This record gives sequence, structure tokens and C-alpha cells, in this order.
Amino acid sequence: MRKNRILAAMAMAAMTFVSCSTDYETKAGRETERKVEDLLGKMTLEEKIGQMNQLSPWDFGELAAKVRNGEVGSILNYTDPELVDSIQRIAVEESRLGIPLLVARDVVHGYKTILPIPLGQAATFNPEIVEKGARMAATEASSDGVRWTFAPMIDIARDPRWGRIAESCGEDPYLTSVMGAAMIRGFQGDSLSDPSSLAACAKHFVAYGAAEGGRDYNSTYIPERLLRNVYLPPFKSAVDAGCASFMTSFNDNDGVPSTANSFVLRNILRDEWKFDGMVVSDWTSISEMIVHGFCTDATDAAEKAVNAGVDMDMVSEAYINHLAASVKEGNVSMNTIDDAVRNILRLKFRLGLFESPYVSTSQEVKYCDEHLEIARKAAEQSVILLKNSQETLPLSDRTGTIAVAGPMADAPYEQLGTWVFDGEKSYTQTPLEALRALYGDKVDIIYEPGLCYSRDKSMSGIAKAVAAAGKADVIIAFLGEEAILSGEAHSLANVELQGAQTELLRALSKTGKPLVTVIMAGRPLVITEEAEISDAVLYSFHPGTMGGPAIADILFGKVNPSGKTPVTFPRMLGQIPVYYAQNQTGRPANAEEMLIEEIPVEAGQTSVGCRSFYLDAGTSPLFPFGYGLSYTSFEYSGLDLPAGSIPRDGELTFSVNLKNAGKHDGTEIVQVYVQDKAGSVTRPVKELKAFQRIFLKKGESRRVSFSVPVSELAFWGYDMKYGVDPGDFTLWVGTSSANGLSADFNVY
Ligand code: BGC
Repeated sequence: MRKNRILAAMAMAAMTFVSCSTDYETKAGRETERKVEDLLGKMTLEEKIGQMNQLSPWDFGELAAKVRNGEVGSILNYTDPELVDSIQRIAVEESRLGIPLLVARDVVHGYKTILPIPLGQAATFNPEIVEKGARMAATEASSDGVRWTFAPMIDIARDPRWGRIAESCGEDPYLTSVMGAAMIRGFQGDSLSDPSSLAACAKHFVAYGAAEGGRDYNSTYIPERLLRNVYLPPFKSAVDAGCASFMTSFNDNDGVPSTANSFVLRNILRDEWKFDGMVVSDWTSISEMIVHGFCTDATDAAEKAVNAGVDMDMVSEAYINHLAASVKEGNVSMNTIDDAVRNILRLKFRLGLFESPYVSTSQEVKYCDEHLEIARKAAEQSVILLKNSQETLPLSDRTGTIAVAGPMADAPYEQLGTWVFDGEKSYTQTPLEALRALYGDKVDIIYEPGLCYSRDKSMSGIAKAVAAAGKADVIIAFLGEEAILSGEAHSLANVELQGAQTELLRALSKTGKPLVTVIMAGRPLVITEEAEISDAVLYSFHPGTMGGPAIADILFGKVNPSGKTPVTFPRMLGQIPVYYAQNQTGRPANAEEMLIEEIPVEAGQTSVGCRSFYLDAGTSPLFPFGYGLSYTSFEYSGLDLPAGSIPRDGELTFSVNLKNAGKHDGTEIVQVYVQDKAGSVTRPVKELKAFQRIFLKKGESRRVSFSVPVSELAFWGYDMKYGVDPGDFTLWVGTSSANGLSADFNVY
């Protein structure tokens, strides 16, 4: 009797919690809740736990039996529409309650038409093209019956050794928040119930990108303040953008696996942020808590995960095998199960699956012209011009002969990048093909790759490539990484170019011909020597299906590059982790450091300067965050931040004059950084707070205005409260994190 009363009270509490979310204020929201409660009321405990079970199908017959029996709520990795409909028909027409399945797939940067990897999309600093790209991917994937994608990945990634940096939007919380929200808007469209929409999934919750040493799946040690100031903001933005689901991460943070971390899953995600979507574990991350040494067996793992707030078990089958007994034994409350099932059913209702469970393939959208054009634009905007001495690029007026070399010039599979399950390489347009097709009537192209693939160590082809270069007027070397070298479980201890690529480049440079290096990779590689010996360098994070034409048009100046680095490029491996928004130290480096070659023999202990830097790598990275050149030049002047103090609830309003002072039309990413000069805790040297993409014709000027709410300067301070510290700040407006016009302001 007493137990019943407690359960009833808990149920009431759950209802109260549920009613917190804004959606329930609307008529449609209330109607959805009513349907959820009606259905929940009809379900047995076993059927409820069945909804919490996600499987990656193996044998159709076996799966069908489980679906018919109400033991499965979701499947992943079915992409044949006929198969999707066959299994859905069993769920809808043959299971007792007819609850449709949620069909999931990792649609990470395109489904069939492949966009640049997310790190490349972040380099566009253009949320509009990113949103369009995600919409395109949703349209293609949903035409095969997929309605839930495990994207966006919004882990802050500050270590290029970690292969999954490729899937991230880089090192910055603000840029990642903006890009993640754009992807969510694109995937989910105007309405989740539109059959062409995918439910998005913000992953991996949380701190996964901080894996020790960049080794995938490894432990993280992120204290709460850093978690809240750096790793959580993109996830909060995801909730604000209406993200339908979250995925827990594989890592343990300070000893607690994310899949059992009720502090982040319940206190932060549900109670503080009022998230009413669904939480799924990562692939077997529930049962892996046994291997972590955090759970004794699968029952323990299932209980810890569900009690912490994981609604759905991705393929470990710990829930389906053990939760019913756990409920009966009182280790998991019925209320906990009901809440999880509510979250799952709510998503199914929001997706309109009960009304339209079957695949709606009204038109063929895969690889359609419109999608190829979106992928091409995204690729164009993602390419970063890192170096351009003596205006080596563009090649616009060049005639004569071009030697094309390198293992990435014609590697249709590799340029697609990581996490491509569905895109076919036969649709890829490589740089070599595009150069021939688009510019072959203007220039003669000799192709001698020199190496067969990025890890190729054989020197036997290099002489031929050099001989071809000798006959050419300019050399373009396409270097980089094969797709398999980045992505999940593909961490590297050495992030320099693999194989004999550097040897190839050295040999090509010895010809004395103008040397353009184009790098296609899944991470920021250490390319210090390669940049030094090249006359021009273009960096393209794996650019996807349309990378070829995008790069060819940039090389020939039809398109002016506008990408900016979404992540800092290290000068040397040992600089990692290196990122721009590091905290202010008590002994920051300045330009006076003595480097290793300058130190006299028997130098005095303090003669090199007692500041924070490496004797052998200096004080700066190879390329800072937010960096990228253009064929034109932009001049900043007249920053007019009004003097005086601004209230904490005010707006920081300012403008700057931007002039295209060069010889080409072009786009500049105007970036705004802020430093809090003295906080209740030490603050980053600079933090990105806003940016705008501005296109200017040559000779054109424009005043670019910003209005940044002062609340954007808030952080979690000494007392672990969130707020803006009154006091002095510096603001920079400029072309990268490393320079800009500055002005001081005060907040009271
Ligand atoms: C990855 C997730 C992915 C899942 C399903 C896991 O190994 O960590 O990012 O969504 O597999 O494929």
C-alpha cells in the first residue's frame, strides 16, 4: 500500500516534470502527450522494455519474430526501402499494439550525395550552406525509409590525433554551437512530421572529444566548470534548436561512464535544460560498462543506465534481457521505465510515424542536380587557402602545361572521407577529372601520381612524377590522408603526412617550378615543412562528392577561396593540444622568447625568458584558428565600439569598415573575439562571439555591424553560478583569432 503511494507520488512528480516543457503549452503538444499516455496505459512491462530496445538487424526472420512480439522499438542500418517497409509492416500490422519502428542510420555528412566532412563544413563559417546540406541529406535518406540520423556530432575536438575530429566542427564552442544547430534545423526541417525530415541526434554526450592522448574511447578528465564552459554549450544549443534526441558517449569522465552519468543526463539535460526528447546509448555502451570495470554484469549495467536516464539501448540487449527482472526486484521503478517509454513514443508521434509508417518515395532525389550543386557550393566554401606566395594562385591566365601529382588527385573513394556508408564513389568527381573536364582545353595536363595511395612508401614512382614536373609550367600536388585514417577508432600518434608524400613533395620542389600543394585530409595535419617548400597551399578537409570541381575552380580563380580554419594547425606534434582559447597564464609568451638555436652555450638559467612556450616550437601554431587567405585582400578600419560602460543585460553594438582592397571579388569571414580581462576564474585569452560572411566586389567597402548581447559573455564562475562578470573586456574584430582591430569596454 505504502509502496503504491510512493509510486503514485513519483508518477505525479514525473507528470509535473513532463509538463515543464514548452511544447506542452501548445494544443498539438498536449494532444501528443494524451496519445502517449493512452498508448502507455495499454502496454505491458515487456512491451515497454521492447520499445527501449534498438537492434541492428542480422537475420530478417529472427528480427521479424522479435518485432512481431513487441520486443523492438528501433532498428538501425536498414536502407533498402522494401526491406524497411516489410519490417515496418510487421511492427504496424502484426504486433499487438502496432507501434511503428524508428529506423536509424548514421547520415553524418550526406547520404548518397556526400558533403565535405563536418570539419570541412565548419570551415565554411556558413550555417546556411550547412543547413541546406543537412536538409539535402535528410531528403535523400528518408527516401529510403530512414527517419532518424545519429548526427550532428558536436564534440569539441582539440586534438588532431583523435580520428573523430573529422566528424566534429572543430575546437570552438561557439562555432560548433552555430553549426550544430544549423545541421539540426536542416535534418529536422520545418516539421519533424514531414516525411522528408530526420530526427537529429546530438552526440556524444559528453566530453568524448577530450579523450586522453587523442586515443578514441579513452577516459576524459573534465572538471564541471570546463564541462559547462566549453563542452556543454553546443549541446545546450542543440536543445534550444529542438534537437529530437541525444546519444551518450563511450568515455568515462573522471571515472563515471557517460552512459551512467545521471548528473549530466538528469540534472543538466532534463532538469536544467528541460529536454523532452529521447536519449539513446552509443553502440553497446551499456554493456561496455562491464569492460570499463564500472558494472558487475549486464543486469547491473542495464540498471545503472536506465536509472541514469538512458531511454534506449543501442544493440547491447541489456535492457531487453534484464530490465523486467530489475523492475520486479525493485531496482528500477516502473516510473523510470514509463518516463523512458514516454520519451520514445513522443518522438514517434512527433515524426508522424503512426500516421505514415511506410517509406514515401515520391521522387528520386539521390544525386539530383540540385543536391550536387549544394555539395559543390559547400565544398567550394570549405577550402582554405593557407599560403599564396607571389600570387601563385589563381592559375587563371595560365596556359601551357600543368603537372598533376600525388595520391589524392584521383582517389574518388578517399576524398569522400569518413562515415560514408551509402555514398558511391562512382559519383565522385575528383580534382584530376575536374581539371581535365573544366580546364583541359586551356592547359595541357600531365598526370603522374608518384605514389599510389597516401600510405605508399614506395619511391619507385617519384622519378616519373619529377620528370613530368620538369616538362610543366606549374605543379599541383594532391596530398593528404585516405578516408580510413580518420574517423571512429582511427587515432594517430603521428599526424604528419603518411607514406613517402613528403619525399615526393621535396623532389617536386627541387624542380624549381611553382609548386601548389592541395591537401585533402580528415584532420589538421602537421605540414610545417610542406607549407614551407610549397608556393601555395590549399587545405580541403575531405570535400565529398563534388570536391573535384570545387578545387579546380578555386585553382583557376573561378571561385575565390573563403574557408577559415575551424581548428588550430600545430607546427609540431608535441604542441598538441594547441587551441586558441587557452586560459590566460600568469606568464604568457611574448615575442621576445629565445628559441633553441639562439641559446648560447652555458646560457644562464633565466636567459631564455621565464614564459610559457616550447624552446623548439616557439610560441605560435602553424596556422591559428579562424585563419584563411583569399585571392583578394581585405582591409579593416574604423572600429567604432562606443566608449562607456554597458549594463549586463545590454547589447554590445559596434561596426567596422571592411574594404576589398585587392584585385578579385571575394568573401571575408569577419570574426569577433572577446577577452574578459579579470574574471572570478581565469578566462580564455580570446573567445569567438560572432562572425559574418561578407561578400564584396573588388574595390567595394561596407560597414559591417554587430550586435552581441552582453549575456553572451557569461560563464560559470568561481561559485559555479552562470553569469557575466562586471569589469573590463577587450574586443577584437578581424580576419582570424590571431589579429584584428581592438577596443576596450566595460560591463557593469
Ligand atoms: C558511434 C556512433 C554511431 C553509432 C551507430 C558508434 O560506434 O560512436 O557515433 O552513431 O556507432 O553507428
